[in-house]
Amino acid sequence: MIKQSGKVKALDDEIHKQQDLDMDVEFDIHFGISHTRWATHGAPSPVNSHPQRSDKSNEFIVIHNGIITNYNDLRKFLESKGYEFESETDTETIAKLVKYMYDNRESNDISFATLVERVTQQLEGAFVLVFKSVHYPGEAVGTRRGGPLLIAVKSDHKLSTDHIPILYRSSGKDKKSGGSLPRVDQDTCLFPVDMKAVEYYFASDASAVIEHTNRVIFLEDDDVAAVTDGRLSIHRIKRTVGDHPARAIQTLQMELQQIMKGNYSSFMQKEIFEQPESVFNTMRGRINFDDNTVTLGGLKDHIKEIQRCRRLILIACGTSYHAGVATRQVLEELTELPVMVELASDFLDRNTPVFRDDVCFFISQSGETADSLMALHYCKERGALTVGITNTVGSSISRETDCGVHINAGPEIGVASTKAYTSQFVALIMFALLMCDDRISMQPRRREIIQGLRVLPDLIKEVLSLDDEIQNLATELYQQKSVLIMGRGYHYATCLEGALKIKEITYMHSEGILAGELKHGPLALVDKLMPVIMIIMRDHTYVKCQNALQQVIARQGRPIVICDKDDYETVKNSSRTIKVPHCVDCLQGVLSVIPLQLLSFHLAVLRGFDVDCPRNLAKSVTVE
Ligand code: AGP
Repeated sequence: MIKQSGKVKALDDEIHKQQDLDMDVEFDIHFGISHTRWATHGAPSPVNSHPQRSDKSNEFIVIHNGIITNYNDLRKFLESKGYEFESETDTETIAKLVKYMYDNRESNDISFATLVERVTQQLEGAFVLVFKSVHYPGEAVGTRRGGPLLIAVKSDHKLSTDHIPILYRSSGKDKKSGGSLPRVDQDTCLFPVDMKAVEYYFASDASAVIEHTNRVIFLEDDDVAAVTDGRLSIHRIKRTVGDHPARAIQTLQMELQQIMKGNYSSFMQKEIFEQPESVFNTMRGRINFDDNTVTLGGLKDHIKEIQRCRRLILIACGTSYHAGVATRQVLEELTELPVMVELASDFLDRNTPVFRDDVCFFISQSGETADSLMALHYCKERGALTVGITNTVGSSISRETDCGVHINAGPEIGVASTKAYTSQFVALIMFALLMCDDRISMQPRRREIIQGLRVLPDLIKEVLSLDDEIQNLATELYQQKSVLIMGRGYHYATCLEGALKIKEITYMHSEGILAGELKHGPLALVDKLMPVIMIIMRDHTYVKCQNALQQVIARQGRPIVICDKDDYETVKNSSRTIKVPHCVDCLQGVLSVIPLQLLSFHLAVLRGFDVDCPRNLAKSVTVE
């Protein structure tokens, strides 16, 4: 008998609770699954934690990232069959359903992967699942629909293949187990040759596994991956036109050091301070600062089509949406196209009209945000060209869009998005520059912006050097209940983004207010006690911002003003200023947001909160 060593781990990247089950079985196989859970159903509590189980003797257990929208119907059905539920989760229905499928199997040699396939056919919603069972010792089965799942492979030994062929049930060689999956043999699965040690890691995000290996396989929706006796096979029910018949092992470029905190107290702090490099990396190899040209390899085959389109629609959520708001004006200026910026959830709620000659951008750090992904499917169905702006190579948005730009900001671990925002900002500016590269009338403006981008990393460093000053400001503000942030034009997005950062990690109320709207309502909030931050930069809105400043001062407000360091007038008129270096108007938002990122970070630390894992939130929002 060949002695074999294998290991399967399932990791996930959400918050609250972690359980780990390890089990030794024959062939020296170790298998553990765990899930740090973000509650969609039921309060965070031991009974609602994952794994969820089929019954008290743990015949089947499952971890789940996502949401099952028809869980109520499934639960009623299973209860009517005598299955007793113990948690409030949607996930428990999956554990019970797989046992139901097993209890009602037509044949004893039904495979674990087939059972899982049958379960997923009954599920609605979005899910990434990993199962184990006492009936299938040493086997792990994972699947996904509408959420991310990769399998990382670690072995010091040669692997049998770097392309794992898909096994289609409908090709049905193995009829004896009632339409079960075709045979798993040495031609159809991955294993270390000579049956040496191998480790498989199922995870939602590459950063969870990079410390072990950089070789990964990204699964597609409805793939079912099974590890049996150290062999990995991938199954699908049937082959459809356009399906790739294999899954390749890819080598990630990510370095372990990129996901370590180093000398920083939190990932968020590290990521804020990485921005000179992350912004530079977004531009690296893409902008030639000597001849003022921009090359975006991921768009080159589609740029002519984009130039002919009727309008651009930027679709995203949260911070990524703010990157769209921040660059809308310069996109309109340089492309001379109508530009809509849409929150993905609202865009879907409205059934927004989309046409074949629209170009729809999906901006997403993770590339997995459920609302953005659904909006992408919606736009594809309507024939629009789709463009991804993502940070995650291999993510659903990066794979499913027609073309796009990876922002190359490096892994962002802190739930609060910081460096992804500034890199998305720069990526969208590069796109705008590319769109007008043959427009003679635009050349002076293009050159001005490109030369502005050249010095941007150094200017970001200069803003970061204000950290101590901003920490002092935080000590004055951290016991307040609320902070208003006001600005207009290019800096409205900074106000929204600053307020989101403050809400998200400090749990203080904060609101980003368009200064032009002050007199239409928000001015009523201003008095001598209300903390107000204003952004006033020397651009085309300067005079109007000065008016807003006077309006606030007239109500006894004492705003803290983020302004241009050479703007003596504003410095003179304000009781407190944060002075940032000047750059080209449409890039200034990259600099104005950094003091607010730093402020939110220091406020959260002073208030005693976990900066990287704010309550109730997850890094990748893979549920609607
Ligand atoms: C930002 O700090 C948030 N964590 C959140 O708004 C985030 O930007 C949003 O969920 C979108 O995520 P994505 O960029 O990965 O799509």
